This record gives sequence, C-alpha cells and structure tokens, in this order.
Amino acid sequence: MPRAQILLLGAVFVISFSFLLQPVKTQITDPTEVSALRAIRSNLVDPMNNLKTWNNKDPCASNWTGVLCFNKTLADGYLHVQELQLLKMNLSGSLSPEIGQLSYMEILDFMWNQINGSIPKEIGSIKTLKLLLLNGNQLSGPLPEELGNLSNLDRIQIDQNQISGPIPKSFSLLTKARHFHMNNNSLSGHIPSELSTLPNLLHLLLDNNNLSGQLPPELASMPKLLILQLDNNNFSGALIPDSYGSITQLLKLSLRNCSLQGGIPDMSSISQLGYLDLSQNQLTGHIPPSKLSVNITTIDLSSNLLSGPIPANFSGLPDLQTLSLQNNNLSGSVPDDMWSNIDFTGNRSLILDFQKNNLSSISASINPPNNVSILLYGNPVCSNARQPGIERYCQYQSIIQLPGSTTSSKISCSPCSTDLDYEYNPLSPIPCLCAIPLKVGYRLKSPGFFDFRPYKNDFQVYLTSGLQLALYQVVLDSFMWTDGPRLRMNLKLFPNNTNLFNDSEVVRIRGMFTGWVIPDSEIFGPYELLNFTLGYYSEAIPNISKSGLSTGAILGIVLASVALAVTLSSALTVLIMRRRAKSQALSKRKSVSRIPVKIDGVKNFTFQEMALATDNFCNSSQVGQGGYGKVYKGILVDGTVVAIKRAQEGSLQGSREFFTEIELLSRLHHRNLVSLLGYCDEENEQMLVYEFMPNGTLRDHLSAKSGKFSGALRFSMRLQMALGAAKGILYLHTEADPPIFHRDIKATNILLDSKFVAKVADFGLSRLAPVPDIEGILPAHVSTVVKGTPGYLDPEYFLTQKLTDKSDVYSLGVVFLELLTGSQPIFHGRNIVREATIAYQSGMIFSIIDSKMGSYPSECVEKFISLALRCCLDEADSRPSMLDVVRELENILRMSPESDFKPLEIEAAESKNPPSSSSSSVNSHPFLSSYISGSDLVSSVIPPIAPR
Ligand SMILES: *[C@@H]1O[C@H](CO)[C@@H](O)[C@H](O)[C@H]1NC(C)=O
Ligand SMILES: *[C@@H]1O[C@H](CO)[C@@H](O)[C@H](O)[C@H]1NC(C)=O
Ligand SMILES: *[C@@H]1O[C@H](CO)[C@@H](O)[C@H](O)[C@H]1NC(C)=O
Ligand SMILES: *[C@@H]1O[C@H](CO)[C@@H](O)[C@H](O)[C@H]1NC(C)=O
Ligand SMILES: *[C@@H]1O[C@H](CO)[C@@H](O)[C@H](O)[C@H]1NC(C)=O
Repeated sequence: MPRAQILLLGAVFVISFSFLLQPVKTQITDPTEVSALRAIRSNLVDPMNNLKTWNNKDPCASNWTGVLCFNKTLADGYLHVQELQLLKMNLSGSLSPEIGQLSYMEILDFMWNQINGSIPKEIGSIKTLKLLLLNGNQLSGPLPEELGNLSNLDRIQIDQNQISGPIPKSFSLLTKARHFHMNNNSLSGHIPSELSTLPNLLHLLLDNNNLSGQLPPELASMPKLLILQLDNNNFSGALIPDSYGSITQLLKLSLRNCSLQGGIPDMSSISQLGYLDLSQNQLTGHIPPSKLSVNITTIDLSSNLLSGPIPANFSGLPDLQTLSLQNNNLSGSVPDDMWSNIDFTGNRSLILDFQKNNLSSISASINPPNNVSILLYGNPVCSNARQPGIERYCQYQSIIQLPGSTTSSKISCSPCSTDLDYEYNPLSPIPCLCAIPLKVGYRLKSPGFFDFRPYKNDFQVYLTSGLQLALYQVVLDSFMWTDGPRLRMNLKLFPNNTNLFNDSEVVRIRGMFTGWVIPDSEIFGPYELLNFTLGYYSEAIPNISKSGLSTGAILGIVLASVALAVTLSSALTVLIMRRRAKSQALSKRKSVSRIPVKIDGVKNFTFQEMALATDNFCNSSQVGQGGYGKVYKGILVDGTVVAIKRAQEGSLQGSREFFTEIELLSRLHHRNLVSLLGYCDEENEQMLVYEFMPNGTLRDHLSAKSGKFSGALRFSMRLQMALGAAKGILYLHTEADPPIFHRDIKATNILLDSKFVAKVADFGLSRLAPVPDIEGILPAHVSTVVKGTPGYLDPEYFLTQKLTDKSDVYSLGVVFLELLTGSQPIFHGRNIVREATIAYQSGMIFSIIDSKMGSYPSECVEKFISLALRCCLDEADSRPSMLDVVRELENILRMSPESDFKPLEIEAAESKNPPSSSSSSVNSHPFLSSYISGSDLVSSVIPPIAPR
C-alpha cells in the first residue's frame, strides 16, 4: 500500500524534523520545580489516574499532563513551569505547600475538582501568578494573608468552596487584580474598607457567605468597579451607604437578603446602571423619585418595608424587563404608562410585579400590550369589584422565574453520517453541511439582565467576536437559569464552512476559554468555563482519553478534564504527537496476523469451518449488523447451533489484543452467562463464536408484541430471571480474574435459553476492573469513556466517568423496573426510574405494574420494586452491592408462594413456534437483537487503568 507508506514516511519525517526544531532532550526542568510537582502529586488523590504521566522523567521535556512550561530555558538554563491546568480531573486530597516553589508560574487552575484542606500560604510567593483558579472544590480554612503579595494577580476565583474566616486586608495590595470571585463560601467578618484602594477591580462577587458588619462606604471610591454583588450575607441592621449612589460607573448592584435597613439612596448619578436588586431586606421609606439610568433592565425591591407611591420616573425606561415591588407597603395608584418607551419587537416583555402592597386604584383606561404582565394580587384594588376587567391582573403569581430553553432547529436535510459525531449547524450559510462541533459548558456568573431572550443575538455577536469566529460558528444549544441568578449555557462551536476544525484551531479556541482571553462584556458580566468537550478532537490535545466514536459517541465525553497540556506555545508539539499517534495506529492495523496460541476450552475454528456453518456467510444466515461487523447464525458440522460475530474491516485488532480478549472470555463459565465456544483468527478475519440462545432476549418477551412471544411472563418467572441475571453479573464482579464490569446491562443483553434460564450476554463494553497500580493502591473505580445505552446509564458514571460495580447495579435496577412494569427504560420521553420513583413515593406502585403479569403476591412485588429503586439511586454509594441484590432476591423468592415457575402460555407459544425453525426468516428474528450491538472487540480490551 504505497499510500500508507507515504503517510508513514511523512510521519517519520515530521517526527525527526521536530527534533531539529525542538531539541528538548538537552533541556531539563528546574530540579526544585520537579520535586515540587512530585510533592503536589503525592498530596493529591487521583482515582482516575489522570496524572499517570507524572511518573515520566521530566515534567517539561516529557509532557506531564496539565503541566505547561515556557517554551525555552530561562537565564538559569532550566525549563520552568508556566501553567498548571488541572480543570475537572476528579482530583481530591490537598494542595501541597511546595506549590509555592513553582516560582515562575502564571496560571494555577484546579477548578471543579474535589480538593480539600486549606489554601497553602506558600502560593503567596509565586510573584508571577496571574490567574488563581480554585473554584468548585471543597477547600476550607482561611484565606492566607500572603496571597496579598501576588502583585501580578489578575483574577482570584475561589468561589464554591467552604473557605472561612475573614477577607484579608492584604488583598488591598493586589493592585492589578480585576476579578474577585469569592462567592459561595463561608467567609465571615467585615468587608475590609481597604479594598477600596484597588485601582483595577471590576467585579467584586462576595455573595452567599457569612459576611457581617457595615457595608464600607469607601468602596464607592473604587474607580473601575462594575459589579458589586453581596447577596445572602448578614450585615444585620447595616445601612446602604449613600456613597453607593455615586459609584458612577457601576453596572450592577445586588444586595439581596442582606438584612439591610434604612432607606434607598438616590441612584440617579449611576449613569449606566443596568441591574438593581435590593430585595429581601428591611428597607424603609419612600422609593427615591429620581430618574434611573436608561440602561436599567432589572429592578427588584421586593420584600422590604417600603411605603409611599410608585414613583413616576420608573416609567419610560426603554430596556426595562422586570420591576418587582411585591410584598411592600406601597400605596396610591398603579402606574399606567411604564411601557411607554419600550420597543416590544424581538421577544421583549415586561413584568410589573406589584403583588401584596397597598395599591388602591388603577386607571380605568389602562391597556397594556400583550407582552406586559401587571400583577396586582393582594392589593386593595383587587377587592374593588366596581373596576371592570380588574380580575385579569389579580391572579396570584408565585415567584417569577424565567424558564431556560433548548434550541430546536428544524432543518430538513438528510441525516448526517453517524460514524462520527456529525451534526448540522443550523446557522451555517451552506445548507446541509455536516460538521463535528466542539461542545462547551459556559456560565454567566453575574449577568446584567433578567430575561436573556432579547440578548441572544447580542451574545452571539459578543462571543464570536471574542473568539474570533464567524457569527454562525457559535450555536447556543440551550440555557437555563440557576441560583444566583446565574445563566448556564451549552454551546456548540462549529468549524468555518468545513466539516472539521483543524488541530491548531481547536488548541487556539480552547486557550481562549481557559486563559480568560475573551474580553469582558458589560451586559453579560463575568463568565466561567464549566466543561469543554473535545469528543472527536481529543487527539488534538495530548493526554486525554479519546471519545468513543461508536456507541458512546452519542453521549460525547465530559471532557473538562481537558484543561490539559495545551496553549498556543505547545501547539507545535501537539501536532507532532498527533501525527505520531496516527502512524502508530496505522502500523498496528497493518500488523493483524495470526499468533497460534492455544486457549483451553475454546475452539480455534478455521475460516473454512465458519464459511461452511454460515453457507459462506450468505445473507439468509445474517441475523444482524453492528458497529463491530455482521452477526450470523451458524450450524457447525456436529449440528451445534451458534451465533458468529464477524469483525468487519476496520474492527480488526492486533492478534495480541484479540487473544487477550479471548483468553479473558474463555475463563468465564457460569450458568447465567452466555458462553464463548470458539473463535477464528486468520486471513484478515476475526470472529467470535457464541452459544445460540433459542428463546431470545428478555426485552422481546416483555414487549410481547409479536405473536411469537405473546405469552406473558408470570411474576415468579420474572423474579427467577432477575436473580439469574444478578448472579451472572455478581460472578463477573467477584469471581472473574481480573474482575469485569459489564458496562452495558440491558434487557436486550439478557438472553433466555431453552429452559428460560436468563444468561447475560455481550461483554462487548466490558472493561477490566481496577487492579492495584504500581504503588499497590487499589483504585476504587476505572475511568473510561462513557459508554452504554441511554436509559440504563448510571447518572454518576455519566457525570464523573467513574465506573464502578455500582454502575452495573444501576443498569440492572433499570432491568428490574422493566421486569415489573413491562415498559421500556425510556418511553414517550419518560424515564422509567423517575416514573417508578414517583409512583413509589406516592404509594401508587401497583398502578405501574405490568398488567400482563396476571395475579401476583403484592408483598413480594413491593419488596422487589423497593430493591429496584434502591439500585437506581443517583448516588452510587447508596445503592446495594450486587451481592446484596442477589441475597435480597433470594429472600423474595423464598417468600413467593408460587413454586411452578414456567407459565403455560409460554409453553404453548414455544410448541407452536419451534425456536430453531425457518432459518430464512431469521433475518428479522427479534431475539437476536442482542447480537447486533456488538462493538465488543474494538473496545473491550484496554490496559487495566484507563486513559492513555
Ligand atoms: C509524551 O509522553 C509520553 C509518555 O512518556 C511519551 O511516550 C511521548 O513520546 C511524549 N511525547 C512528546 C511529544 O514528548
Ligand atoms: C446604555 O445605553 C446607551 C444608550 O442606549 C448605550 O449607548 C450604552 O452602550 C448603554 N450602556 C450599557 C452599559 O449598556
Ligand atoms: C458538560 O457540558 C454538557 C454540555 O456541553 C452538559 O450537558 C453537561 O451537563 C456538562 N457536564 C458537567 C459535568 O457539567
Ligand atoms: C471562514 O472561511 C472563509 C473562507 O472559506 C474565510 O474567508 C473567512 O475569513 C473565515 N472566517 C473566519 C472567521 O475564520
Ligand atoms: C515561545 O513563547 C513565546 C511567548 O510565551 C512566543 O512569543 C514564542 O512564539 C514561542 N516560541 C515558540 C517557538 O513557540
């Protein structure tokens, strides 16, 4: 194959060329920093072994995960660490004090892990540090004074931890700082008035802490402050300083639920104020009648003790989206022209919430446009029966919260190829262009509006120009409001009129997000990255486990774990690595050849034998087609009926991997597992030969729509099948060596033999369970690419990629629910676990039991459903172990009065349709569907501890 050789040569050329460009071999990392990194790692718990590359020789010269170095040696002749990027890597443990010895570092990023302990004071000695990103962990203890020495710090993000103690006065020395994000902690004490000397601070987010004392009037002298957000603290009895009315550049002031008293200062000189929330305090007096900024979108003064009239100058504000004055003592009449200056085209609406006040009159001619809601419930005006048409304003409305939304684009194109994660970009100027997007979880931390809908276009413009992309490249897939309020979004970034981003573009875009290079926006406020799913593009960035491109691809990978080793400076290395990886894959595929090894108990079939069994693989013996290849029903010379899975080109693996797989499968023998009988590996063919299961899948019997399986299963029989499946899986977890997690348990993977004994099939997605690593520590779970079947997926596994034995428990619990209800795991968009939980909690379980089951012992059914729901708990730790499941099922079985487990209907059905009859109709044979999924060989053999 000359083409492959050319590619190979090309790759070799690029690799050697890279050594000319980057003589990294001769450069080494500063030894102090190497030992610091080792100390950092030894204090971390890394269950997914994400930092396994940290065993390599040199951090900078041999690409340690998440460690980014300056691209050349400094004056001391050493390489130095520039960034530590460990976003969302499932790390726990604590931060080692040695971190302070990374003395040239600029970005320290541990966001969205589970780090505990306190922030080491030694971080204060990293003079070069620009971004300190520790949000979304479990850090506790106080903020060290020493952080005040970080004279180059631009951003301190420690929000969503449990940090306690005061805000150090020394923070007033952080003269370059622009962002203080310390919300959602347990900070206490006063806000130091010294912070007012910070010349560059833009965003001060201290909401959701235990701060107390006075609000320092001095903060008003911060020259650049744009957002002051202090909600949910307890400044008991403090006043809002009058000076806050003269922070002329302020865009957002949010002091909700702060136990504030006194009056509202005059805000008329804050010329661009967009968002004012003073709700849930004990503010008194009249609302100042002075004019507010024309930029205001949101005014919330609800749940205070305000009195007097609603001032006239709330009218005519062109951008107003909501004015909430509910739950005060306001009196007088309802204003009737508040919307006079609002242009209601383009999704604009206005909510005027005046509920629970003392308003006594309303103009008879009031006639707001449809987009305006006036809420007057709980005012005397509503009990004035003489006012015609008043009722429509008087219905009670609880808290108004805007819904999120999911974009549903209606494109009429033929579907994209499904072999990769292709999608249509609904905004693309080229119609029907399939492309693979990047997926980004993004959150606006303190937006300047109440209703996002009118700002969607502006957001599009803002983000695309920030990322230097064309307007149509960013698709806002969905958004939802969360506490704060903060706005969470899922974005899809599409390539510019092509199918794929190239690697350098992926690296560039990622760097824009993780380096906070996108400029701040006045209306959208500060943003944060929640995750960054590379999926197909994971190869562009080293040290990241790859997305499964087959079954798992629909789910994508939660790949925030990405933060890894990339910046612009390392782009070159990245490209080279990618080429190298490709050349390896290429050579591996070519080297499929036979290794004649004997495996006990499993027969090595020749290609001839396989061809004979299947009439030369004729179409009529084909029973399925899956990602792995075609599946045939075959009859061996001795008359044994078998199922043969034949790998298609592209699914072939190296002989070594193939044998490892077969060896593993051959060692598994259990009454409740479908056995492997043999294999074939020759002439570029690989096949697996399984025992044939004449009674099909559990699903077929539960669906029972075809005449063939119309016989319904009785309860006792269902219970037997549940127990059989559980025993099979328990064997995989506990007796197999090494242990195996099935990963794809579902009703179509539970087959029934001629005696209706349940057997677990298709270890296609199995992963070897964890084995002790080099240091002898047994990791509690294996990290993998998320695979499996929607509806059966352990939610914890899906979120964390932590695969445990409890993931199988979850899936089996879903199968139990199917056994009990007869429903599919997801039917008409409803999830069986949720439906059953609701029924159970409301004491309605018998309403969901499969009516085809006939009579059943209600006590046993109750116990069974309770077990099933415990298996399906969100938290893996709360679920029973597989052993508990088996024991409990045995108990229920013992209680069960019936002893005859074979229902007559089934026997009748069986004799009417002998299972192994007409092989010509086998093409559409429902019970073979489980053989069809098999992507097995491709994915199931991996090193014991996952990502590369
Ligand atoms: C990165 O590290 C791995 C593991 O040591 C090594 O195999 C690979 O060659 C390194 N790549 C580069 C570009 O240095
Ligand atoms: C405030 O409104 C004016 C006039 O509409 C506009 O030019 C300006 O950009 C707005 N400022 C902000 C911060 O939105
Ligand atoms: C990651 O982002 C996707 C969408 O981009 C979202 O559905 C998912 O919930 C996010 N995962 C986590 C763990 O935040
Ligand atoms: C998109 O690609 C076109 C060429 O196809 C190019 O002219 C344009 O500058 C690109 N836009 C961006 C934002 O990269
Ligand atoms: C090295 O990094 C600097 C900035 O950090 C950059 O300007 C320069 O282009 C980089 N050099 C190489 C060869 O990547």
